[in-house]
Amino acid sequence: MSKILVVYYSLTGNTKLIAETIAESINAKILALKPVKELKAESGRTYIWGGYQAKMKRKPKLKEFDINPLDYELIILGTPVWAWTFSPPIRSFLSKFNLSNKNVALFMSHDGRGVKAMKRFKEILKDSNILGEIGFEKPQKYEQNEIKEKAIAWVKEIV
Ligand SMILES: Cc1cc2nc3c(=O)[nH]c(=O)nc-3n(C[C@H](O)[C@H](O)[C@H](O)COP(=O)(O)O)c2cc1C
Repeated sequence: MSKILVVYYSLTGNTKLIAETIAESINAKILALKPVKELKAESGRTYIWGGYQAKMKRKPKLKEFDINPLDYELIILGTPVWAWTFSPPIRSFLSKFNLSNKNVALFMSHDGRGVKAMKRFKEILKDSNILGEIGFEKPQKYEQNEIKEKAIAWVKEIV
C-alpha cells in the first residue's frame, strides 16, 4: 500500500507519540484532529467533562483541514480511551467521512482500562476492512523505546 494516512486525536501527547512514530516509520501522511473548542489538558474537570462527552457520543466540531481521507488506501486511526470508548473528535471524524469498505487499522492509548474501548471502536467501524488493532498503555510514561518498537512492528506487519 502506498497512500497511507494516520489520523489521530491527542489531548496530552500519548496518542501523538504513537501516531508520529508510526507515520514516520512508513512515510505516511499525518492528520491531527483538533476540536474547535479544546478541553484544558491540565484541568481536573477534563476527565469528568471529557468522559461525559465520550459517553454521550458527542461530536465536537473539528477545525478545518485540507486533506481528503477518502483519497487514501489505508487509514490508520489513533485515539486515547475516554470513558471506556474512543474519544469524541474521532466520532466527529467518522461522522464526516464514511469509511465503509475502506482499509483501516486502529490504535488506542490508555491508562490500563482500555479493554472494552477497542470493542466499541471496532463496532463503529464494522463496515470497514479492519486490518489491525493495538493498544498502548501510558506511552509517555513507560519505556518509550519499547513502545515505539511495538508500534513500528505492528504497522509494518499491516502495510
Ligand atoms: C476524559 C478522559 C477520560 C479517560 N478515560 C479513560 C478510560 O476510561 N480508561 C483508560 O484506561 N484511560 C482513560 N483516560 C486516560 C487516557 O486514555 C490516557 O491517558 C491516554 O493515553 C491519553 O492520550 P493522549 O495523551 O493522547 O490524550 C481518560 C483520559 C481523559 C482525559
